[in-house]
Amino acid sequence: MTPYQTIIYEKQGPVARVTLNRPDVLNAYNVAMRDEMYEALEAIRDDPEVRGVVLCGAGDRAFCAGADLTEFGTAPSQAIARQVRWERDVWGLFTSLDIPLVAAVHGYVLGSGLEIALLCDIRVAAEDAVFGLPETSLGMLPAAGGTQTLPRVFGPGPALDLLLTGRRINAREAYNLGLVAKVVPRYHLMAEAQAVVEGILASGSDVLRSAKRALQRGMDMTLAQGLELEARMALDIFRARRGPIPAWRGAVET
Ligand code: COA
Repeated sequence: MTPYQTIIYEKQGPVARVTLNRPDVLNAYNVAMRDEMYEALEAIRDDPEVRGVVLCGAGDRAFCAGADLTEFGTAPSQAIARQVRWERDVWGLFTSLDIPLVAAVHGYVLGSGLEIALLCDIRVAAEDAVFGLPETSLGMLPAAGGTQTLPRVFGPGPALDLLLTGRRINAREAYNLGLVAKVVPRYHLMAEAQAVVEGILASGSDVLRSAKRALQRGMDMTLAQGLELEARMALDIFRARRGPIPAWRGAVET
C-alpha cells in the first residue's frame, strides 16, 4: 500500500508500520524521506483505524545512520530551509501523536536515527544496535530534538556524555541507561516490537491517549502543575464515564 520512495508504509490491523527504506545508504535521512515521513505521520494522525505504530529500518545494517551527509549545504538558502522546516515539522508531528509509537532499532542508530527513535515512546533494540550522536564532532548541533529528548529520556549526565563526546554505545549500555526498554536477538526484533504495541492495545483501554498526553505535557511543568494536570485529566475521565467521583476530587476542583 506504500506509494513512497524512501519509506514503506503498511497497516496490520490497528498497527501502522513505517520502514525507513534506503538500505543502500544505511537509511540515511534525506529531504525526500523527511517529506514522505511527514505525509505518513499525517496519514497515521488522520486514520482512526490506526491505534499504534512501529517504526523500523530496512536492510541488515542500520535503523538509520543519520542525516544524509551528501545533502549537507545543498539547501537553496537558510531562509527557505527554515520555512520548509516550519511547514513540515516532522518532529512536532511525532510528538503530537497520542497513540503509542514503538521504535524497533538495529545496527547503526546514529544522529537523526537516534533522534527519531527518541521521538518514539518505547524503543526495542536488536543486540547489534549501536547508538551515537556524531553531530558535534561534525561541527553541528543535533537538529531533530536530540539535545532536548535525550536528557528527558535518561537525564542530563549521560545525555551530555553522548552529545559532547560523540561516542557510540552498544545495545547493552543503552539498556542500562534506560534508552531502550528491551534488547532482543535481531531475528526477533520485529515480532517483539509488534508484540509490545499489540500488548498495549490489548488492554482495550481508552485512557492510553490521556496517559501519554499527561506525561508529555507534565514534563514541561513543575511537579505541582503536573500533579494538578493529572488529577484534572483523571477527573475528566471519571466524569465522562459518569462513575463515582473519586475521593481525591477536593484536591482539584476549584
Ligand atoms: N549519509 C549519506 N550516506 C551515508 C550515510 C549518511 N549519514 N551513512 C552511510 N552512508 C552511505 C555510505 O556513503 C555508503 O555508501 P556507498 O556504498 O555508496 O559508498 C553506504 O552508506 C555504506 O556506508 P559505509 O560507510 O560504506 O559503511 P561502513 O560500515 O564502513 O560505516 C558508518 C558505517 C555508519 C560508521 C559510516 O557509514 C558513517 O560514519 N556514516 C555517517 C554517520 C554520521 O555521521 N551520521 C550523522 C550525520 S549528522
